[in-house]
Formats: sequence, C-alpha cells, structure tokens
Amino acid sequence: SKLVGLVGWRGMVGSVLMDRMQAEGDFDLIEPIFFSTSNAGGKAPAQAKAHTALQDANDIAALAQCDIVITCQGGDYTKEVFPKLRASGWQGHWIDAASSLRMEQDAVIVLDPVNDNVIQKALAAGGKNWIGGNCTNSILLMGLGGLFKADLVEWVSSMTYQAASGGGANHMRELLKGMGVVHAAVADELATPASAILDIDRKVAKTIREDVPTEFFGAPLAGGLIPWIDVQLPNGQSKEEWKGQAEVNKILGTEATIPVDGLCVRIGAMRCHSLALTLKLKKDLPLAEIEAIIQGGNPWVKWVANDRAITVKELTPASITGGLQVGVGRVRKLNMGPEYLSAFVIGDQLLWGAAEPLRRMLRILLA
Ligand code: HSE
Repeated sequence: SKLVGLVGWRGMVGSVLMDRMQAEGDFDLIEPIFFSTSNAGGKAPAQAKAHTALQDANDIAALAQCDIVITCQGGDYTKEVFPKLRASGWQGHWIDAASSLRMEQDAVIVLDPVNDNVIQKALAAGGKNWIGGNCTNSILLMGLGGLFKADLVEWVSSMTYQAASGGGANHMRELLKGMGVVHAAVADELATPASAILDIDRKVAKTIREDVPTEFFGAPLAGGLIPWIDVQLPNGQSKEEWKGQAEVNKILGTEATIPVDGLCVRIGAMRCHSLALTLKLKKDLPLAEIEAIIQGGNPWVKWVANDRAITVKELTPASITGGLQVGVGRVRKLNMGPEYLSAFVIGDQLLWGAAEPLRRMLRILLA
C-alpha cells in the first residue's frame, strides 16, 4: 500500500482529520508514517504500523520517501518545506490544509462533492498538489453547490458569521475565557431577580471594554462580534472576503468569473461557520424547483424548511456542530425581484471546512 506521510496531525485540524480517518477506516488502506516538527524519534500514534517512530518533518529525504504527504501543519511549514521537497525531484502527491499554495496554477482546491470533475481533469493531466479550501467557501459550496452546478448563479452576496475555531485553538479558548469573565462580573446581580438590568448592562459593557481577553482576536469577542477577519487589502476588502470570489471560482473551474463578495464577521460560535446569502439567479425558477436543485447538490445537504420552529431548532450551531451535514435554510424569494434568493448556510468549520476534503482527496488518490 501507499506510504502516506502525515504532518501536523496533533493540532486541532490534524486531530479532526485523524478522527475522521480512523472512523472511515482510511488507515487500513495506507502505510502511515508520522512526522513531527518538534519530537522526531518520539513514539508515533497508535495508527502507526511499521513506522513506530516519529520522523523529522523538516527532513526532505524522509518526506521524499512518501507517495503522498498530508499536512495540517500550517502555511509557514508549507512555504518552508514544499519548495525544497519539489526541488529535490519528489513526484508524490501533496495534500495540504493551508492556504499558501491554494491559488497556484498547478494546485487544485479540493472539495470533491462539488468539483470532482475539476479534480479528475487535473489528475489526468498529472496534477500533484491538492489544497483544502477556505472553510467559509467550502461550506458555501457544500450547501449551494447544486445551484452552481446547474449554472444558475449570476452573483452572490455573502455575509458571514464565522466561529472562533477559524482562528485556531487559542481563539476558542479566548472566547470561552471571555464569556466567563463577563459572567463573573455580574454573577451576584444575576442571581438576584430584583437587580436592575441596566446596572448589569453597564457593568457588562465596562467588563467587555476593559477585562475580556483580546490577546488572540485583537478585540473582545465574548458578548460582541468583530467585523473583520484576516489582513486588510488595499481595495478595502479583508483577505477573508477576497478569498470568496477567488476560491469559489477556482474550486468550480468557472470560465466566466461569478462575482462573490460580502462582509466577513467573527462571532462567538465555537466551530460552526454560517453565511447569510443573497443570490441573483440567472432566471426566475419556481421555489420548489430551486429547493430540489439545492437538495440534489450532494448527500450532505441538510435541507431546513423555511419555517420558524424548524429553523431555530435545526439551522443553528447547536444542531450542526460536530457533524458532516451542511444546513441550508431560509431560502425564499426576496423583494428585489423573482431572481433574487436568500439562503442561510451553516457547517462545521473543522469538518467540511478543513479536514474532510483532505481525507476524501486521499481516498481519490488511493482508488
Ligand atoms: N480563515 C478562516 C477563519 C478559517 O478565520 O475563520 C480558515 O479557513
């Protein structure tokens, strides 16, 4: 079986990947070899077979033995190691969660339930670099891929509600710490039903301004939101917003660019990214037909009827977190006209947004 090198398997995305690979029996099909940037020579995890010692993740010759390398180690590692590995003449497949190589000409952004055609074409042409997409875009396309495949989308306005996990493990911890700080500041008053809510609010506002930790997010998230994700670009977009159009079109392999733009906002959810979307369709279709097209997009679409009781129960982080289903709801025609559609899409940022497309690409390479 193929020798598959795993790098960055201990971090948050890497751990989710390991769990999913274990659950799907992927390790039964490969000869895994585990790499580490800090603990070469240490003991590899239980999934290791012959290769029980951790290899050095910066050892190009060791990496070059692998038929396939999967990395969740991050963009700096990719920038450092990938060029050297290719320069050494290595012809293997590189599967990567980081964004560094995503927009390269010879890289495919992998999301096979949506772009298997693009993947297969690249494979046939000798493609070897397979990169996971930005979480928000992968979730958007897992939710509404059906509409894109049917070539019905003229443009998309995408307003996001992105979870703390998109920043990383430290960001999730910071959110929770902040929630605790806010609560602790008013716990006594809260326990007293007679206390005045505006007094509580004043204390909460002061606590959010002064005491909620901001080391990782750069601004208080608990009890609030941050309307900016990633660095600022000269045109006024955030980099996260820029990725929308660039990646969606690259994933789909469109010939004419579909405009995708909107604002990306960090909110206090743990690991579910959501998007409130406005789509302009190329034609006026009956809602029932639109629903059928969306539902037919892929088996992971969880259609949520545009009904209050069902929506508040099923189209929420509480319902979606930790699972592979991507919720799609709030679909209706807007006042702007019969081609204008709203939709709310929500998915687990660490699954379809990060780990799942990587292990599925591995399966494609093993097939
Ligand atoms: N950039 C995304 C976020 C996560 O910060 O939510 C990675 O795709």
